[in-house]
Formats: sequence, structure tokens, C-alpha cells
Amino acid sequence: MIRVAGLSKRYPAAGGGRRVLEQIDLTVAAGTSAALLGTSGAGKTTLLNILGGLDLDYQGEVEVAGLRLRGRGDRELSRFRRDCVGFMFQDFHLLEHLSALDNVLLASRFAAAAERRQHAERARQLLSEVGLAGREDELPGALSGGERQRVALARALLRRPRVILADEPTGNLDPVTGQRLMELLARLLRDDGATLLIATHDESVACRTDRRWRLEGGRLLDGATGDNPDAGGARGPA
Ligand SMILES: Nc1ncnc2c1ncn2[C@@H]1O[C@H](COP(=O)(O)OP(=O)(O)OP(=O)(O)O)[C@@H](O)[C@H]1O
Ligand SMILES: [Mg+2]
Repeated sequence: MIRVAGLSKRYPAAGGGRRVLEQIDLTVAAGTSAALLGTSGAGKTTLLNILGGLDLDYQGEVEVAGLRLRGRGDRELSRFRRDCVGFMFQDFHLLEHLSALDNVLLASRFAAAAERRQHAERARQLLSEVGLAGREDELPGALSGGERQRVALARALLRRPRVILADEPTGNLDPVTGQRLMELLARLLRDDGATLLIATHDESVACRTDRRWRLEGGRLLDGATGDNPDAGGARGPA
């Protein structure tokens, strides 16, 4: 589950300290999905970075996968990022000198040997599920934007994280491929009881989630696309 209370954030350099997030309250129940909409620059990535424990410079309270992030030391936060959260970056963060498969397996680099063997198998399976079977050994430079994006998604899912934070996961994909990825995410949510928060501009992605929010002028507005604002009640494990 994701719980945010009274979250505010300003970048010192941005517009003389303009607040990007202003008193945000947000809950995504365990085992449910939510979409975070908002125009470019609205603060979606900023919010996801905070939830993923990547940005510690904010006011307010943030709890993700049972951990309150404030006041945690480096080691605890690294463990949190490694074990609890699958983060899919908007700009993918793939390492150019590693193959698609090895990029996915980056998420496994601190695992024990037996676990790494399982991960290797799952990495191939995930690459196949995102439509990249046979492309495992290619370097990111040989992949299209949408293909790189799918490698990044496979990496985020490798360790069956309890919380998945996906920043524009379908931004470079055609509608059919985007749809397929959403189906994959929905299945993983069902099978693993994961919690999913997706930042997206894509209404067709947003309408597949249990709940929608919109960032506007630093504020978070509820039920942004309207038709199902009350979905997303508690179900599934914590
Ligand atoms: N590191 C930074 N330093 C200063 N300002 C920043 C920084 N990162 C983001 N900003 C500013 O904060 C605001 C929100 O940025 P953010 O990346 O969160 O938006 P976004 O909603 O993800 O946009 P997009 O849809 O284009 O990805 C923008 O005005 C941006 O210029
Ligand atoms: Mg962004």
C-alpha cells in the first residue's frame, strides 16, 4: 500500500522555490492500481521519485509497502528500493553496455546464487511476455524506444515487488503493445497482490486502473477521469 499525508515539495532552483507538490494526501490500497494524471511538468515524476525513496527532500509523511520513509538510513532505504519497489523510470535508465537480459538482471545483482538462477529464468520469461523473446542478447542501442521501455518494465517486475511505480510505462508504445503491457501488469497485480501507481498522460491506460488522480497546480485532485473514483478499496494482502 501507498500512503501519503501532507506531502509538499519544492525544488530550490525551480521558479525561485515554487512548490511543485502542495499538501498532497494520497492512499493506494494494497493490491489495487491507481493512475496519476497531469500535464507535463505537473509533478508526476517528482511524486514517484519520493515514493520510490529516491528523493528525500520533502515535507510530510510517506509510507510505502509498510515502511515510513522519513528518517531511514541509507542502508534501509537501499534495501527498501531493492526489495519492495519496482521502479520503472520515464527515461528507462538502461545501462548501454549490458544486454537486454543483463539489464533486467540488474535487479538481481545482490541476490543469493539460488535466487539468481530463478531470476534468470523469470527475466527470460518476462522479456518474452513483453514481446522481446529472441532479443535478450541485444544492447539497448540496438532497441527502439518502445523496446527499451519494455526492458525497463521487465526489470521493474523481476523481483515481484509489492509496490510498482511506473513512470509513463506506455509513453513510447503503440496502442496494441500498450494494451498488452497493461494486461501483463493487471495479471501481476492479481497473482502477486502488488500495488501499482502509474504516472501517465494516456487516458486509455488510466481508465484501466482502480482509481485515478490528477496533479494540477501542485494539488492532487480526486477521480480525475471521472467514471470510477470510488474503486480501489482494500483487497489482497498488505
Ligand atoms: N531536479 C530538478 N530541479 C529543479 N526543478 C525540477 C527538477 N525536477 C523537476 N523539476 C521541476 O518540477 C516540475 C515537475 O517536474 P516533473 O518531472 O515532476 O513533472 P512531470 O509531471 O513528471 O512531467 P512530464 O509529464 O513531462 O514527465 C517541473 O516544472 C520541473 O521543471
Ligand atoms: Mg515525468
